[in-house]
Amino acid sequence: MPQLSEACAVLTAAGSGSRLGCELPKALVSLSGRPLVWWAARGLRAGGVGMIVVTAPASSIEDFRAALADIEDVLVVTGSDRSRQASVALGLAALGHRDADAVVLVHDAARPLTPPEVSARVIDAVRSGAGAVIPVLPVTDTLKTVDASGLVTGTPRRADMVAVQTPQGFRWDVLTRAHEAGASRSADEAVAATDDAGLVEAVGGSVQTVTGDERSLKVTRPLDLALAQLLAAEEPSA
Ligand code: CTP
Ligand code: MG
Repeated sequence: MPQLSEACAVLTAAGSGSRLGCELPKALVSLSGRPLVWWAARGLRAGGVGMIVVTAPASSIEDFRAALADIEDVLVVTGSDRSRQASVALGLAALGHRDADAVVLVHDAARPLTPPEVSARVIDAVRSGAGAVIPVLPVTDTLKTVDASGLVTGTPRRADMVAVQTPQGFRWDVLTRAHEAGASRSADEAVAATDDAGLVEAVGGSVQTVTGDERSLKVTRPLDLALAQLLAAEEPSA
């Protein structure tokens, strides 16, 4: 029987974290003594990921390399200061050529505490035949659509909505083709997708869901960091 090739990942960390409002790039902000990007990389590895390419801000490459020095098979490359989508594209290029059916995950360093089981579920679903897989949770807030003046234009049925997390997982050929198509679209329209599965949807691909996890929260604003600090205090950071 042919050996299953190991999953690889792009870990996006090139953002500045303007909503968090720290001096440091967000992915270098400390959580229980280790930077967010370290926690995220370690979680991916524990979930079964081999090679991890980290997209970092151009001015902090050496700081990222130092922060990740004790994790093997991590490559730090310069991300984009334009968009997350452009950073992911640079990360995919750095992963080099992969087999069409290889599994690639895209994860945000802004989600440092994603349990390894979530990555494992995503990888398993791709290996079982899905081209694109996202971890999701039910939404608890009521959602509304609004127009530019703030007037409510509609109330989607909450039961039909889910909140989307990372890591998102893909067959290599599905993700690289979706990114190529997305790059030519965004050159025209100056828009970037907020997630990678959205690029697959835009080219007509189907996206499967698996169960996410509340601990996989995204550190966006100071309150999120406070919650992550509480959760990280219960985890070993060595
Ligand atoms: N990211 C990236 N390249 C960019 C922008 C974002 O690699 N040009 C990464 C971030 O580092 C983060 C993830 O994409 O891990 C999700 O982005 P977000 O949470 O919005 O982080 P920031 O863009 O850093 O935060 P903000 O939008 O508040 O500035
Ligand atoms: Mg951002």
